Amino acid sequence: MLSHINRLPPKVLIYGGTGQAKILRVIVEHYGSIVSAVIDDTPGLPSPFPDVPIYEGWDGFKHWVKTQNRKKTGFLVAIGNPHGRVRLRLHEALVAEGLQAVTVAHPTAWIDKNAEVGEGSQILAGAKVLAETVIGKQCIINTNASVDHENILQAGVEAAPGATLCGLVEVGVNGWICAGSTVLPRISIGADAVVGAGAVVTEDVPDGVTVVGVPARPIGKHQAD
Ligand SMILES: CC(C)(COP(=O)(O)OP(=O)(O)OC[C@H]1O[C@@H](n2cnc3c(N)ncnc32)[C@H](O)[C@@H]1OP(=O)(O)O)[C@@H](O)C(=O)NCCC(=O)NCCS
Repeated sequence: MLSHINRLPPKVLIYGGTGQAKILRVIVEHYGSIVSAVIDDTPGLPSPFPDVPIYEGWDGFKHWVKTQNRKKTGFLVAIGNPHGRVRLRLHEALVAEGLQAVTVAHPTAWIDKNAEVGEGSQILAGAKVLAETVIGKQCIINTNASVDHENILQAGVEAAPGATLCGLVEVGVNGWICAGSTVLPRISIGADAVVGAGAVVTEDVPDGVTVVGVPARPIGKHQAD
């Protein structure tokens, strides 16, 4: 496993209080650290964990962090795509506050030694990242996703559960390869583009375009947040 992965400080903050937080807590605790707080922007959202406090939004974070030893606190952003750009903004803001970006891989994930994984990325259960693939900052390689040889994923990309990226695929910033889809070799997926669940992508997808179906065809453009 690459040396910066699963190197956790004693406490970890999770930004985002829904299902992704539950998945990440299991990994954090497996490697001997604890989740000390959850932050979520949704007013009144209950904590996903009865034993961990939740604070609301950036103001809530600022209130909580006053009492913390920032050098001993890491963070994970538990917000999936299409909000990869939100993950990236929070990453920069939390690093600026003196917290450490944590990079995690589930104990059942496989990452080849000659692959690269960017800061703050999450490689989840059963996922594979193979030869010479480069994963950018704050990417999510979700449950059982397969990212084969020599792929290049820019920052904020998510490969959703069961997605398959064959070799030499490139994905732009905040690209979202949805559940169970397949991207054929040498295909380029643009920034903020979406590949719908179950699609098979046989042609390049421009920036911001959503494609669905087999073979994948465009259904429109959307606004990245
Ligand atoms: C691609 C996706 C994001 C599009 O969402 P959207 O922009 O809100 O699209 P809509 O739901 O408005 O659907 C637009 C049209 O495309 C069709 N469509 C949407 N997703 C489709 C898919 N994956 N495959 C085939 N057709 C699809 C809809 O049936 C609809 O068709 P219609 O206009 O004939 O009624 C979404 O459908 C999808 O595939 N989500 C999967 C999310 C995922 O993998 N999550 C994992 C989280 S860990």
